[in-house]
Amino acid sequence: MDNVKGKWALVTGASSGFGVEFATLLAQQGANLALVARRKEPMERLADRLRRDQRVEVIVESLDLSQAGAAAELKARMDSRQVPIDVLVNNAGYGLYGEFLEQSAQRLREMLQVNMLALTEVTHLFGSDMAKRGSGHVLFLASLLAYQATPGYAAYAASKAYVLLLGEALNTELKPRGVAVTVLSPGPTATSFAEVAGQKNTPMIRMLMMEPAPVARIGIDSMLRRRSSVVAGLLNKAIVFANRLTPRALQRQIMHSAIGG
Ligand SMILES: NC(=O)c1ccc[n+]([C@@H]2O[C@H](COP(=O)([O-])OP(=O)(O)OC[C@H]3O[C@@H](n4cnc5c(N)ncnc54)[C@H](OP(=O)(O)O)[C@@H]3O)[C@@H](O)[C@H]2O)c1
Repeated sequence: MDNVKGKWALVTGASSGFGVEFATLLAQQGANLALVARRKEPMERLADRLRRDQRVEVIVESLDLSQAGAAAELKARMDSRQVPIDVLVNNAGYGLYGEFLEQSAQRLREMLQVNMLALTEVTHLFGSDMAKRGSGHVLFLASLLAYQATPGYAAYAASKAYVLLLGEALNTELKPRGVAVTVLSPGPTATSFAEVAGQKNTPMIRMLMMEPAPVARIGIDSMLRRRSSVVAGLLNKAIVFANRLTPRALQRQIMHSAIGG
């Protein structure tokens, strides 16, 4: 596995859920951290804990990634602090559950901006520096829902399919430049995700539910092994495998029922 001791890692969405686990795991391996999300207070608490327990440097940047220009703003802030980012964890994101036509167009735009455009721009900016230095690691957060169309999460699932395909393609493109890109696809995991999305748990979701810490560990280990793509959890892997043998219309019908549609 590659070593991140003394390197700088930037984690987006570091104010809750997976982001806290990614930051903790990277700090345990000796990486310094730049934490990014909108809510500053939970990130300051996490920063204090990591400085005290792991003796690493931690900086906190409050930023709304749904705003156009946020990626350039983030890059400018890191440059002004003279912090070279060696590890980029593109974790910030959220879902909108419910019928597509019932969502407001503005909320859809903001979600797509965070899940896809900010991720793309942040990767382009920091990935260019990594490629110039000839080394770096990037982790993308896709989802089990990236593997089939999902009525009820139509736009969210499509945004995660974008993340999956972009990440896998970049793994191949950036490998010769020394930059490893890995896509982690979690299934349902006990974070704030469902509450933010406005979704209630169903029996199927309860059956698949994992804790965030082991899922984050799978992501970090896979990234440091330079794997292109990993689905977290045996049941989630089985669903992705079964998709290969199932007609697409049936895949989306099954997933629609599984999430309570
Ligand atoms: N949990 C699951 O079941 C699951 C499954 C598959 C994939 N995922 C993916 O995992 C990633 C992390 O989600 P989570 O499960 O850890 O949920 P979470 O606990 O709700 O965390 C989401 C993080 O994204 C940040 N974020 C949201 N909107 C943002 C914005 N406009 N600007 C900056 N940061 C923003 C939030 O910070 P602020 O609110 O402070 O801005 C928060 O830190 C997401 O990409 C999600 O799609 C989750």
